[in-house]
Amino acid sequence: MLGQVIILVDDSAFGTRGLLAEHGFSVLISYKGKRVLFDAGQMGVPLLLNASALGINLAHLDAVVLSHGHYDHSGGLYTLTRVLRGKPLLVAHPLALKPSLKIEGGERRDVGIPYSAAFLEEHFQLTLSEGVLEVAPGVYFLGEIPRYYPDLVSHIPGVYTVSEEGLSQHTFADDTAVAVDLGEELLVVAGCSHSGVVNIALHASRLLGKPPSTILGGLHLSGKPLDFLDKVREKLKEIGVVKVYPGHCTGTVATVKILERFRGEELGVGKVIDFDH
Ligand SMILES: [Fe+2]
Ligand SMILES: [Fe+2]
Repeated sequence: MLGQVIILVDDSAFGTRGLLAEHGFSVLISYKGKRVLFDAGQMGVPLLLNASALGINLAHLDAVVLSHGHYDHSGGLYTLTRVLRGKPLLVAHPLALKPSLKIEGGERRDVGIPYSAAFLEEHFQLTLSEGVLEVAPGVYFLGEIPRYYPDLVSHIPGVYTVSEEGLSQHTFADDTAVAVDLGEELLVVAGCSHSGVVNIALHASRLLGKPPSTILGGLHLSGKPLDFLDKVREKLKEIGVVKVYPGHCTGTVATVKILERFRGEELGVGKVIDFDH
């Protein structure tokens, strides 16, 4: 076993004793002797409690990557800083640090990252990048995901960002993923897949020139019509996906539909996926 992904935060813990579920996502990727934390969950306490219950010490990390700025992926960073030793790399798209507001029926809800760049710089080597970045040997932050299939994105309606000019529609350009280069193929780890899981997998494959054979993470397909799900399945097959591990915001119907066509299984806290290269 040369590498491993372990789920530390997810919407499901399958009722396992001693593990906490919350709406959020965080996984620890261990590969070639380095440890990369992908997302940090929402509240922080589930991240630390689950890590401790699973015998994982989060004090020493080589890098932390944010899939995007949403609170359910970034909120746990403060609690993480309480146990961190040293100052690991923290990589995100620049838009991930901008405000993100959901406005619905006259009500405004902050759904963005609850920390400033200044706070993050105190605890991490903050690196904002729109392009691809190798954050540890063989582990790539994919940067901005082109909308190859604009009809297959999973943007949330009514989300705005704020600039000096006022409110503007949020583009979800910060939503990205990580690809682990396993030699002949790629393992793609996604947070919320607002950019569209097909666009993410295709971009990983174009950047690194290998098939994205395994996809793991939140696919944000809840509430999508069946013809949308069919198209996603068809395109994923076409670009060489073989195994899918859906979790977090994927949605029940989409999870069933995906697992009808692909090997893999539903994610939950404590799930361990071993891989070789
Ligand atoms: Fe999200
Ligand atoms: Fe999410």
